[in-house]
Amino acid sequence: MSDNIIVADKLSEKQQEYMALIAEIMEIRKRGEKPLAFIRTYGCQQNVADSEKIKGMLARSGFGFVDEPDDADFILFNTCAVREHAEDRVFGNVGALKNLKRRHPQILIALCGCMMEQEHIANRIYQSFPFVGLVFGTHSLHHFPELMYHSLVDGKRIFERGNDDNKLYEGFPVRRDGSFKGWLPIMYGCNNFCTYCIVPYVRGRERSREKDIILSEARDMISSGYKDITLLGQNVNSYGKTLQTPVTFAQLISEIDQNDGEYWLRFMTSHPKDCSKELIDAIANSRHISKHLHLPFQSGSDRILKAMNRRYDRKKYLETIAYAKEKIDGVSLTSDIIVGFPGETYEDFKETLSLIREVEFTSLFTFIYSPRVGTPAAKMDDPVSAEEKSKWFRELLDVQEEIAAKRCSSMVGQTERVLIESEKEKTGELNARTSGNIIVELDGDPSLIGTFQNVKITKARNWILKGELI
Ligand code: 5AD
Ligand code: SF4
Repeated sequence: MSDNIIVADKLSEKQQEYMALIAEIMEIRKRGEKPLAFIRTYGCQQNVADSEKIKGMLARSGFGFVDEPDDADFILFNTCAVREHAEDRVFGNVGALKNLKRRHPQILIALCGCMMEQEHIANRIYQSFPFVGLVFGTHSLHHFPELMYHSLVDGKRIFERGNDDNKLYEGFPVRRDGSFKGWLPIMYGCNNFCTYCIVPYVRGRERSREKDIILSEARDMISSGYKDITLLGQNVNSYGKTLQTPVTFAQLISEIDQNDGEYWLRFMTSHPKDCSKELIDAIANSRHISKHLHLPFQSGSDRILKAMNRRYDRKKYLETIAYAKEKIDGVSLTSDIIVGFPGETYEDFKETLSLIREVEFTSLFTFIYSPRVGTPAAKMDDPVSAEEKSKWFRELLDVQEEIAAKRCSSMVGQTERVLIESEKEKTGELNARTSGNIIVELDGDPSLIGTFQNVKITKARNWILKGELI
């Protein structure tokens, strides 16, 4: 039985009423001028997608948006808890708002997202940042209008932190940031409890959106001109398990792929333990799924994988990679790696190096282990010094740079289909991306932004390619 609860096909009527009330209050306060919001998002694409929902709700409440906090009536930081560095940045940037609040006492400053689901963080904000008026976690998104209304009207500080409400809410108005690249969440939460990771504690249990809702949202995106659509979830490979009629991720993405049109479908993130042959076959046989697999392996050492509770070993990972290479012509592989997990030795770390040499990833997201309060790994012995870990980390970057350079230079002379994404501010060149998610820089007219083009690869510089329009 599914324990998902779908709340109507639009955000609940109560929340719609709150949005209308906010619009009325702001109209009076601003004497008819449009109220403005500044939203800053930290962390992963899941947070970006949440911010797009918040922006949707704010737009329905009459708000426009600004790129700088100084002119805003409402400031919101959507925060990330995955590593200490992300948290430190948030604390630093919130601190910097103190003077702004002093100059404009009517501004409402709010914090939301993963960090706010942690009790020790919410307490610190409460005590150290009295100018923050509203704090809410990832579980409170569906009644953000209500929380904001009370902040504006009651004038009291509101702190709403998690409960074990693992319901799934639908019907958010979404205001997407991009006009041709877009995110489409297919599931929320995570059940894996990797021992280093805070996500299951701050985003709750895994729950999948109904397939028909996703299909209809994907169709809408394709027909309104989205060219690059990324299906989002903490572990998309286990999509559909909690639904009343179970569906696999491969079935879902293959059905979306049936839609005609010129677009790419991407997805993130995959977990190696659940990455099925069925999914790899689906990519190989599809018309629109990009030939790219982001498959985080975290460590090349079986001993560390076990301590991380990853539930696959090096051999199984390499078998999946071999199958992907065999089936998907020119597949581009990327991964996440953690260096310096508690108890990791240099011998373990060398296993990670040998794995990246063996696979030849296009690019890597590499992180030094960061202890997270409340996770099992934070209680493990961690004898290796920070300096030593940084040394290993640099070694990893050097090896990967060599591999990426080799991989990219092997593409010189090839023709690639790319999506033109933006104009580089300094040089006026265009930035484009291949189906394998590799960046290509080229000369061309900015009117090409948002279109697919064929490009001849002329040069490679580390992991960036140079190309010419054909
Ligand atoms: N320390 C360092 N890196 C982490 N990640 C998740 N938790 C931690 C942590 N505590 C990394 C993993 C994950 C990516 C999103 O962030 O590599 O795949
Ligand atoms: Fe964290 Fe592991 Fe879940 Fe990824 S799969 S979000 S690393 S617990």
